[in-house]
Amino acid sequence: MIIGIIGSGAMGAGIAQVVATAGHTVRLLDQNADALQRASSSIQANLTKLTEKGKLSADDAAASFARLRPTRDIGSFIDCELVLEAIVEDLAVKQQLFRELEMLVPPDCILASNTSSLSLAAIASACRQPERFIGIHFFNPAPVMQLVEIIPAVQTRTGLAEEVRDLVQSWGKVPVLTKDTPGFIVNRVARPFYGEAIRILEEGIADVATIDWALTELGGFRMGPFALMDFIGHDVNYRVTESIFASFFYDPRFKPSFTQKRLFEAGYYGRKSGRGFYDYAADAIAPEPNRDEALGRTILHRVLAMLINEAVDALALNVASREALELAMTKGVNYPKGLLAWADELGPATVLQTLDALYDEYHEDRYRASPLLRRVVRQNQLFLRHEPAAQQ
Ligand code: NAI
Repeated sequence: MIIGIIGSGAMGAGIAQVVATAGHTVRLLDQNADALQRASSSIQANLTKLTEKGKLSADDAAASFARLRPTRDIGSFIDCELVLEAIVEDLAVKQQLFRELEMLVPPDCILASNTSSLSLAAIASACRQPERFIGIHFFNPAPVMQLVEIIPAVQTRTGLAEEVRDLVQSWGKVPVLTKDTPGFIVNRVARPFYGEAIRILEEGIADVATIDWALTELGGFRMGPFALMDFIGHDVNYRVTESIFASFFYDPRFKPSFTQKRLFEAGYYGRKSGRGFYDYAADAIAPEPNRDEALGRTILHRVLAMLINEAVDALALNVASREALELAMTKGVNYPKGLLAWADELGPATVLQTLDALYDEYHEDRYRASPLLRRVVRQNQLFLRHEPAAQQ
């Protein structure tokens, strides 16, 4: 299969590596010659690393690299069977690209976008044949992260999502189908990991180091929310939060925080600027957490209850299946467990109690429990196994 990738930045380069290694001929296009050069060098360096680690033979690495054709000429996309764009996150620019592209490629060429936050229906609306358009959303770094969200737009023809899912699976990835709703699965369900942690900080319940300690040491998350936000960068993470909030018609559950907005405005983006929630100066002293187990459990259960509620609500609204939700959070953001499995382990009634207690205290819509969580508790069920829950 001949695959075209447009945009050779962080995502485009990674995706090009994935598909070239999977045996496809890849035409990689960028409007910027330096970006194209950087992408070529980084793919070559990654392939060399894989051979050094014994994950790829030298012959396969050389063959993969030879299948990659960097170009600045969109005319060379004339024989592509699938084109995936990973250019700047701007609706008008993406629409214009698909308008031009559609004049060139064969009529049965699949058109795809790697957008994180735009509506696929809106991008597809620029196409003359929107039924061949679909979202294929990779995670960064694409060669490492297994999850790929597959998002049919309302215009996408029946059956295309399944074809694309099988193709992506043949690349060694874990594809999950999801609806064209803001944040798809991962960027929607993961919001409270950041938002609720910041809220706990703002209320003075605990400091940054203690909250991170509770989530990593007691919860088993690889990184605490503050360390993770500093790693992602507050420029990126704050903008995603704002965009999701607006896309959900300002549902208070997704409300951004002033704490993060101020860091963003100050240019304290996190690791990359030397300061965020933590100080990354060479002589900075890392703050010590308060290792109070009871406090830590309260923090963990509050954040977990919010995350579980988001996953349950996504299930209630048919954003994705149970299996897709579990895979998304374990393979897309490396959570130690799927959130539905976690709900079953804690007991749905315990999760509901935590949320209802928060709701009673704050009277904020943010803490409203999903009707599905309430129903599962009322019927004494679990999310993943259909036997009755143990008596709480
Ligand atoms: P990036 O800024 O690293 O790369 C974008 C590339 O596209 C640049 O090299 C730029 O020169 C090129 N470009 C821009 N407009 C173009 C055009 N009209 N024609 C040809 N090339 C053009 O961006 P990144 O991070 O790779 O993101 C790309 C897309 O992937 C965005 O839609 C983003 O939302 C999405 N995405 C990003 C993730 C991330 O973690 N960075 C994760 C998943 C999706």
